Amino acid sequence: MADTGEAELHAHYQLGKERDRLAQGGGLIEYLRTREIVLRDLPVPPSVVADIGGGPGRYALWLAELGYIVEHRDLIPLHVQQLAEQANDRIRTAVCDARDLDLADASVDAVLLLGPLYHLRRRADRISAIAEARRIVRPGGLVFAAAISRWAPRLDGILKHRIYLRYPEIGPLCDAVERTGELPAVTPGGFAGFEAP
Ligand SMILES: C[S@@+](CC[C@H](N)C(=O)[O-])C[C@H]1O[C@@H](n2cnc3c(N)ncnc32)[C@H](O)[C@@H]1O
Repeated sequence: MADTGEAELHAHYQLGKERDRLAQGGGLIEYLRTREIVLRDLPVPPSVVADIGGGPGRYALWLAELGYIVEHRDLIPLHVQQLAEQANDRIRTAVCDARDLDLADASVDAVLLLGPLYHLRRRADRISAIAEARRIVRPGGLVFAAAISRWAPRLDGILKHRIYLRYPEIGPLCDAVERTGELPAVTPGGFAGFEAP
């Protein structure tokens, strides 16, 4: 059977590092900029936003504070548990796969899909996740999707973090990622991602 990348996904997120990723440095910039972009086009509260692949729930908590009802779903039980510990009655959270959502057709006003696409190795799986987002959003509602460019390891890893000092093999790896769009985990529990063509 083809490797879907799911074992790598669990190994990475099981480390628990995602909880504070958006709190500082580049993660904080990503968080603030994403909020700006999303808020530009979200319908006004109290509409319903699905946060699919919502991680430990930083955006879900923010949206709930603004008065939205949030349907948060994530594949990793630890992330759902981390959000459940802080959630309020505006947030519903559950373990669920973006490719097979437990939400009804046209049941939400907008969808955040800021995680699953760059983790799904197979094109058919990425299409399933997009089709599911399309199915649950009401007619005219928006789906906000995040992807990671195949140039990210060179721009972020080499130029910014200079990880070649720790991993000299990163140069040839970047060449391969730029050719294929596939970034394998370079260390146990490392991040693996796939560019969605
Ligand atoms: C880098 S985190 C991003 C979390 C959050 N959306 C954000 O933007 O900060 C990627 C998230 O996508 C989730 N994810 C990956 N594939 C998924 C799938 N098929 N279904 C649901 N969640 C998935 C992971 O578990 C992880 O929590």
